[in-house]
Amino acid sequence: MAVNLLLGLQWGDEGKGKIVDVLTSNYDIIARFQGGPNAGHTLIFDGRKHVLHTIPSGIFHKNAINIVGNGVVIDPVIFKKELDNLSEFNLNFNTKLLISRKAHLILPTHRLLDAASEASKGKAKIGSTLKGIGPTYMDKTGRNGMRVGDLELADWKDKYAALTEKHIKMIDFFNVDIQYNLKELEAEFFNAIKTLKELTFIDSEEYLNNAIKNGKTILAEGAQGSLLDVDFGTYPFVTSSTTTAAGACTGLGVAPNKIGDVFGIFKAYTTRVGSGPFPTELFDEDGETMSRVGHEFGATTGRPRRCGWLDLIALKYAVEINGVTQLMMMKGDVLSGFKTLKVCTSYNYKGTEVHHLPYNIEAHNVTPIYKEFKGWKEDLTSMISEDTLPKELNEYIKFIEDFVGVPVKIVSVGPDRKQTITR
Ligand code: GDP
Ligand code: IMO
Ligand code: MG
Repeated sequence: MAVNLLLGLQWGDEGKGKIVDVLTSNYDIIARFQGGPNAGHTLIFDGRKHVLHTIPSGIFHKNAINIVGNGVVIDPVIFKKELDNLSEFNLNFNTKLLISRKAHLILPTHRLLDAASEASKGKAKIGSTLKGIGPTYMDKTGRNGMRVGDLELADWKDKYAALTEKHIKMIDFFNVDIQYNLKELEAEFFNAIKTLKELTFIDSEEYLNNAIKNGKTILAEGAQGSLLDVDFGTYPFVTSSTTTAAGACTGLGVAPNKIGDVFGIFKAYTTRVGSGPFPTELFDEDGETMSRVGHEFGATTGRPRRCGWLDLIALKYAVEINGVTQLMMMKGDVLSGFKTLKVCTSYNYKGTEVHHLPYNIEAHNVTPIYKEFKGWKEDLTSMISEDTLPKELNEYIKFIEDFVGVPVKIVSVGPDRKQTITR
């Protein structure tokens, strides 16, 4: 069987957690392939909300195997908290949750380095989640990193000590005021490592390729979104991993010819947390309405998310780079009641109209050009069938489909698992 991918097409928080949970009943295996605890994936069912950071969003389904792939970076401390939060559900982690030996570990000093780097940048800071993501991937590509598999080797504590010592010097080099108590951080870290070591470590590339040969169905769960991709996002205001489809190949050890469908998720409008350009960002009442009705606060950091209109130039770009075969539109319900909706269909780039995403989309270079749509009044949140969707919403969706050339197969009308309409 082929591996299907599910990816965010904007700046993250599109609703990936919800849709992975909805789709898991069709899959044997759910595998996270990149990112780490910078992600916050929200699932709501049976009246309860769950936020997952590193654990794949298929964890609540009885039969699904959840894999944390080699491309993921794991903070044992956050991972332990996630496991503790799930303790009441009596899930058998030893059989349901498998960890790649090649996944890299986030050390306490990676987090400190993230904070020091951000503090040193002042106003130009990335707005990182301060989870140590950038420094950990830097150690990975710099060939200094520690991996989960190292924990099975006799000398892992020496490796840890050497890397931490190096980090301390680097933190000093930044020459910023970062307060920390390494002893406390290490006690928490070593305690969490004990928990991590109780789980099952696997050679995940071998496991997954065998699963493919044996006809198992696999869904790869992305984190962040295409506009945060280290190559194709709004660099340098991006994360440090490949969030696009290619990241699933390197982050799981699955060859490109094994990829099947690519599900691309987007919000009916746009949000972004942290710094960086955002051409369709709103600073008016419409933006405030999106923020309020959509409860737009980060699932990991609690920071308010910036809100704006849907940007079809950016969406088309993401669809192309990922080879998206099906779209899923989230949070359409949040737009109910808007008299007029706008979508960006081209940019004014330094005085000329362009129809692609230019190299630099800072506000001084780019102004969005909009097409307007009539809004709808109906509350969508209790709708369960495509037939009941308002005419104006269908026109909005049809325009998006025609513009990017891919069908919208799921319309999400609320955060709950059940508030999901298939087309
Ligand atoms: P992820 O990072 O892509 O998994 O998304 P997040 O969980 O960070 O953010 C999505 C937020 O929107 C969460 O609070 C979800 O509960 C919520 N959500 C998802 N789909 C919908 C929807 O269709 N309508 C509404 N109103 N909320 C939604
Ligand atoms: P999910 O998977 C939204 C953003 C941060 C910051 C930038 C770099 O929930 O969609 P990092 O900590 O990765 O170095 O931060 O990327 N960011 C996200 N924004 N959703 C996420 O994940 C994000 N993960 C990172 O806000 O701007
Ligand atoms: Mg999120």
